[in-house]
Amino acid sequence: MTRGALDEPDLLLNKAYVAGRWIAGDGAPIAVDDPFTLAQFGEIPDVGATGTQAAIDAAEAAFPEWARRPVKERCAILRRWSELILRHKEDLARIITRENGKALKEARAEVDYGNGFIEFYAEYSAHDLGEIIPAPVPGRRLLVEKEPVGVCVAITPWNFPLAMLTRKVGPALAAGCTMVAKPAELTPLTALAFAKLGEEAGVPKGVFSVVTGHSKAIGGAMTASEVVRKLSFTGSTPVGAMLAEACAPTIKRLSLELGGNAPLLVFDDADLDTAIETAMIAKFRNAGQSCVAANRIYVQKGIEDRFLKALAAKIGAMKAGDGLDEANDVGPLIDERAIKKVDEHREDALSHGGELLAGGASPGGRLAQPTLVGHVAPDALLTREETFGPLAGVIGFATVEDGVRLANDTPFGLAAYLCSEDPKTIARVGRDLESGIVGINTGLISTPTAPFGGVKMSGLGREGSHHGLAEYQNLKYLCHAGI
Ligand code: SIN
Repeated sequence: MTRGALDEPDLLLNKAYVAGRWIAGDGAPIAVDDPFTLAQFGEIPDVGATGTQAAIDAAEAAFPEWARRPVKERCAILRRWSELILRHKEDLARIITRENGKALKEARAEVDYGNGFIEFYAEYSAHDLGEIIPAPVPGRRLLVEKEPVGVCVAITPWNFPLAMLTRKVGPALAAGCTMVAKPAELTPLTALAFAKLGEEAGVPKGVFSVVTGHSKAIGGAMTASEVVRKLSFTGSTPVGAMLAEACAPTIKRLSLELGGNAPLLVFDDADLDTAIETAMIAKFRNAGQSCVAANRIYVQKGIEDRFLKALAAKIGAMKAGDGLDEANDVGPLIDERAIKKVDEHREDALSHGGELLAGGASPGGRLAQPTLVGHVAPDALLTREETFGPLAGVIGFATVEDGVRLANDTPFGLAAYLCSEDPKTIARVGRDLESGIVGINTGLISTPTAPFGGVKMSGLGREGSHHGLAEYQNLKYLCHAGI
């Protein structure tokens, strides 16, 4: 049997989905590699600026009818889409693992998480209401209506090929917007399979397109377009800044989910088991390749030794290998650069007095061993740059104030975590952390029903929940006189 063979082979596509048609590009196709075998797994066309413009034109043409449809009808299509995602969960998980490398159990979890956004907006959006504001003078009625912002574009990353897309598509389509999405070149096949299921669910032609190929031409066409009214991007802060600049002349609305560098603070009064579980999830979910990964683990001196011992045992028991092998916890990382970065951060931490307590050097290929370095210096590279890999660095601290100061000493503010059993510490630290999301005694913070997004250089806007729907709506104030 072929490696990771699909029950429904038709879900593996080598064409882009533009204006309701499956199209090839003009230029040479782009190979999509399996990060474990390093062999080609699939290929995609490069549709370039021309294909992107065709998708934007189709989204513009489809918008008036889609926007005017009763929200219940839009939601019914999303519900069918969600059912199809769940029906094809195993195939989608295999595609995710083949192109991204993550362990199959994590890929399955991503399908559930990603589907959660389609499901949530299918259920919630029909209940979203407008407003009537009390009139300041007699004879008037002040109404606030919510309108879809129009044609939207999404640029999504490789680390969660399904979930980062669905949390944009779900609210956009539910709100009545149309959308053109560009998945990462490294992981476009999940997005195409998702589009195929959308076609089957009855998403009308042009309402949703997936353009594949090189970022520069596609991103350029998207940002330059006057038709496109909103861009939603998940990725690095420098790319987010470039996109914001490119969108400025046409004053597009922006949602930017950018870099993280999340701290985890473990206080002396934390429950040890809870702290270890929090660290394991916050650090190792998706092999550490997440914007909300705990990049810096600060542990108060009174619990540090016990914490390091228990964490070393857990990390030492983790298995890295082929993501398709059910026994593995961590699959290969996405590319060579990712491995190099983990190696660089580990060596830097060790050369500044850190102590290797589990794992060690990367074994070859794209595999990185889950690794723990204790007693890391507070200015080590891994405290300043996102490692984006399975390397946990633990830094000691003395007082609660020291911990909060270290945690906030970053230009980023997406997620932060704290472990404590003291309600006063939880309340004070939860308040003082400069972060859009705070996990308290848990590393599992992401859910479609809560607002996800950052402060400082971690981005703009929120995804998920009713706040995520509002990102795709304009408020129209109607001032009705003479009544
Ligand atoms: C991300 O890594 O960008 C998102 C992770 C999540 O949604 O939990």
